[in-house]
Amino acid sequence: MITLGIETSCDETAAAICKDGNILTNIVSQQIIHKNFGGVVPEIASREHEILLNKVVHTSLREAKIQLNQIDAIAVTQGPGLTGALLTGVSFAKGLGLGLGVPVIPVNHLEGHIFANFLAEPALEYPFVCLLVSGGHTQLWYIEGMEQYSLLGETRDDAAGEAFDKGARIFGLGYPGGPAIERKAHGGDSTKYHFPRILLSKDSLDFSFSGLKTSLLYFMDDFTETKSISLSDIIASYQQAIVDTLVEKTRRAMDQTGAKRCIIAGGVAANQCLRDRLNVILPDKDMLFPDFSLCTDNAAMISYLGQLKYQSNFFKKLDFSVIPNLKLV
Ligand code: KG4
Ligand code: ZN
Repeated sequence: MITLGIETSCDETAAAICKDGNILTNIVSQQIIHKNFGGVVPEIASREHEILLNKVVHTSLREAKIQLNQIDAIAVTQGPGLTGALLTGVSFAKGLGLGLGVPVIPVNHLEGHIFANFLAEPALEYPFVCLLVSGGHTQLWYIEGMEQYSLLGETRDDAAGEAFDKGARIFGLGYPGGPAIERKAHGGDSTKYHFPRILLSKDSLDFSFSGLKTSLLYFMDDFTETKSISLSDIIASYQQAIVDTLVEKTRRAMDQTGAKRCIIAGGVAANQCLRDRLNVILPDKDMLFPDFSLCTDNAAMISYLGQLKYQSNFFKKLDFSVIPNLKLV
């Protein structure tokens, strides 16, 4: 079975080809225009998808050496995401699906991030805990099978990705903030300054990052670089506070559920400091991290999960619309 995947939930225009569970091509065009604004501008994102989508889809087909008439199904992100951005992808998928006479499968973007881990490890066994950390979501899930998801905890305010992005803005670094902070933190001393780790009550699996961002704002008001404390020390200390919070909550979730396996999903999973720290704190657990290219937004995860849903009869109906605040359960 050959499935074309399309992802346009935010500022990546992406297409991928999945053949019998294997990814043949994974094309991602990141819309660099948003760098000028320090964040994603929804209307511009939709217009850019309109411009880029046709080319990205054709590149994914050409590089996979697949003709349009060989496609058996199209999987497309239904939500969550920006309304206009989602609509460009879904309209394109529906038009193409109708023209080719093939089914169009709606895919939940968050579920896509989780299932990217099966591309990293096809033999991954249930149950497992998932730390889902993206630009809009920070959640801990207990996953016992497809569509058997229990929410263990989530952020009460900012997502971890937002903490990176807003922090980067305060530091005067570019967008997206996560990779910029990771680069600048390199070589910095993460113990030079103690930013708060908001852990809430003793057993809580919820997160809160807004206080951390405020404390950085106040700190930077008074900060002048000296010989003994450099900006990269501060950036490394800020990154460490986010990472320590994520790691501690994940450790608690593993303790409370007794799970042996833990997977990490979403853009923040690309952070090497987070990966290293999780391995140190949970040495006796099976930790799984997808390839860097499968952590941030991509259509490989959408094509793979769409195909899986279709083949496992989880696929419901054709007449769907976008759902900007789509939940996992
Ligand atoms: O999953 P994703 O690509 O898009 C959403 O679904 O939101 O996640 C984007 C988020 C952004 O906030 C970005 O700053 C963060 O992931 N991110 C990182 C890294 N790469 C991307 N955060 C920390 N370290 C990274 N290397
Ligand atoms: Zn995402």
